[in-house]
Amino acid sequence: MDRRRFAAFGASAIAMMAGAARAAVPGGYDWNANPPMGDRAAYIAWMVKNRGEDPAFLGQRYDRFLQLVAHHDVWDDRNKRAYLMTPRERFVTAANIDRTYQMHYLDIGFGVTITGPHTVARMTNTIDVKKGDKVLEIGTGSGYQSAYLSNLTDKVFSIEIIKPLFERTGGVYAKLIGEGYDEYKAITRKNADGYYGWEENAPFDKIIVTCGIDHIPPDLLRQLQPNGIMVIPVGPPGSQHVLKVTKATAADGSISVARSDIYRGAIVNFVPFTKLEGNKIVGTHSG
Ligand SMILES: C[S@@+](CC[C@H](N)C(=O)[O-])C[C@H]1O[C@@H](n2cnc3c(N)ncnc32)[C@H](O)[C@@H]1O
Repeated sequence: MDRRRFAAFGASAIAMMAGAARAAVPGGYDWNANPPMGDRAAYIAWMVKNRGEDPAFLGQRYDRFLQLVAHHDVWDDRNKRAYLMTPRERFVTAANIDRTYQMHYLDIGFGVTITGPHTVARMTNTIDVKKGDKVLEIGTGSGYQSAYLSNLTDKVFSIEIIKPLFERTGGVYAKLIGEGYDEYKAITRKNADGYYGWEENAPFDKIIVTCGIDHIPPDLLRQLQPNGIMVIPVGPPGSQHVLKVTKATAADGSISVARSDIYRGAIVNFVPFTKLEGNKIVGTHSG
């Protein structure tokens, strides 16, 4: 796709995202408010009343929720709540709105994707975000992952390398905040190459990387708090293992790093961890 088509895709997509708006969220964000999880009709009724959302999408969100739970992609109540509170339909493009709650990743333009709901849920639950944790996301993309995180902590930092996508997602957040999604005010973003992390805001309790690379970026490991957790797709292009990386500090102060594969060997395909030179994206950070 050439640049002009990218731009056209971006403009029409944002117009349609805006068109997906329904009602404003009544009242502000309440950390103690919990949608019912055990009953589809009760969940939809609660969300319509408390979040002003569309019952048709809420039904699809709940149906996918049952699949996430059945596949052990989400396992604690805080993470279940974060999934159920995040309107994924507001972060996909118009062309894919009917596929919002399908299990697959979806094209969002600019040659990149919104990660599938099962992968988002498993990666997020793996880093075990608690309120107050500082979380860094590499690859803001559609903004969905950060929106989900903002239901787990009030300190979310996110970096996106593609400038027009960074700007488009800024418009999506601005609109949603205007409608009353106050939790998204906790998301601080920048347009940069996330390979180098975000030194001014480091250290981070948790780091989530949503693009694939063949090694763990040294600056990200350095900016991870001792005892912090990172989740990152590592491997050759088109074929990564999603690793949970835990940084531990021993009694003598020495640091060790433990890794485990959150899919126990299954391959997952992520978009590449690209590289910025000046203000141009040139290749990737994989060797
Ligand atoms: C799978 S996609 C987006 C997933 C995103 N978390 C979401 O919820 O939509 C990965 C994103 O990583 C971005 N990306 C790739 N390399 C990057 C880098 N070096 N720094 C920051 N973002 C990068 C891509 O532009 C893309 O938006």
